[in-house]
Amino acid sequence: MKIHQIKFKNQNQTYSILIGNNIFKILPAKIKSICPKTKKIALIFDKNLPAKYKKSLSNNLKKYDLTILNLNPNEKMKSLKSVNYFLDKLFSKNFNRSDLVIGVGGGILGDLTGFVASIFKRGINFISLPTTLLSQVDAAIGGKTGVNSAYGKNLIGSFSQPKLVLSDTCFLKSLKKKEMVCGYAEILKHAVIKDKIFFNWLYKNTKYIFSQDSKKLIYAIKKSCKIKLLFVNKDTNEKNYRMILNFGHTFAHAIEVKNKYSKKITHGEAVLAGMILATKLSIIKKACDQKTLNDLLKIYKMNKLNYTFENYSSPKEIIKLIPYLKNDKKNIDEKINFILLNKIGKTSLPNKNKISIKKLKKLIKFFTRC
Ligand SMILES: NC(=O)c1ccc[n+]([C@@H]2O[C@H](COP(=O)([O-])OP(=O)(O)OC[C@H]3O[C@@H](n4cnc5c(N)ncnc54)[C@H](O)[C@@H]3O)[C@@H](O)[C@H]2O)c1
Repeated sequence: MKIHQIKFKNQNQTYSILIGNNIFKILPAKIKSICPKTKKIALIFDKNLPAKYKKSLSNNLKKYDLTILNLNPNEKMKSLKSVNYFLDKLFSKNFNRSDLVIGVGGGILGDLTGFVASIFKRGINFISLPTTLLSQVDAAIGGKTGVNSAYGKNLIGSFSQPKLVLSDTCFLKSLKKKEMVCGYAEILKHAVIKDKIFFNWLYKNTKYIFSQDSKKLIYAIKKSCKIKLLFVNKDTNEKNYRMILNFGHTFAHAIEVKNKYSKKITHGEAVLAGMILATKLSIIKKACDQKTLNDLLKIYKMNKLNYTFENYSSPKEIIKLIPYLKNDKKNIDEKINFILLNKIGKTSLPNKNKISIKKLKKLIKFFTRC
């Protein structure tokens, strides 16, 4: 049982991200050293996590005063109503700040429970056990917590770091292929924006990620977390540099909103489409060359991911996304703030490529050249 450790460190906090296969049984020992005063634990499970893990985790922690709660995660449940529900549970069981909330689930559960923990009595201990690939490589890393509002996704939230993240690849075995694609999209994005060598590794090894070879999975998760943390550590509160992590997400967000967040297209599939569109825009804006796009397309083709962008191959369809682009959080004025790609491993800086709607419509017409 090899445990890989990444240390998160900023001015205020230090904590570990532990990654491995079948490592979740070390949790009680970790809690003892990180939260020695904890007496009560709220263990909040994702409904779709297989029962054997729920049973085993609950048994491992039975010497604590345990409150076991469940959530059937969907974007509607990622709401203030659910926040209140969990806060009430903690109040009714007299939790205090030295006690502990553990979120065991995907990104929805992690964002929600992390937010609950960050505001309960101004902050109770929180440990995250991400159980989807997306949450292990992205959502559980970086300290963004929150819920949706009627005005949009993730608009209510806080920046708050957990005491520990424990990513166990054994949890991923029960994930659907679509959910693996979702996490893979963010892994690929991390390579594209920052690490050519990792990109080349993905070129050879993506198939093993999808076949769940644990060694390869662990390597990809570790690499991904490190890249995300590079950006987070430079800009914890997302003022500027961290926005590079949103590469491909401006178009992706529009695709998701246009499709009304339906299950037809997942977030990760939208990100895969968004990265292709952002790279095409980069070529048209002369930020990168055609070979960069071709290299990216090769990975998509080899791993049968072309379906993600096929609906957005004609300018007419891409232009239809424009009304949904405008609400992007990166836009501080009327123009759309794009992160462009210079080459594999390097992007433009935020706020350097703001494009008006009128100009964007013109540029999209040239996408067929790429
Ligand atoms: N905080 C951040 O920085 C950040 C970053 C990226 C995404 N997010 C958020 O993450 C959310 C998406 O996360 P997600 O992709 O994990 O989706 P999710 O939480 O909806 O999980 C996907 C599905 O997998 C199920 N599931 C979870 N673990 C499972 C397991 N081990 N076996 C079988 N099924 C399992 C869930 O019940 C759900 O049906 C979005 O709400 C997004 O806004 C947050």
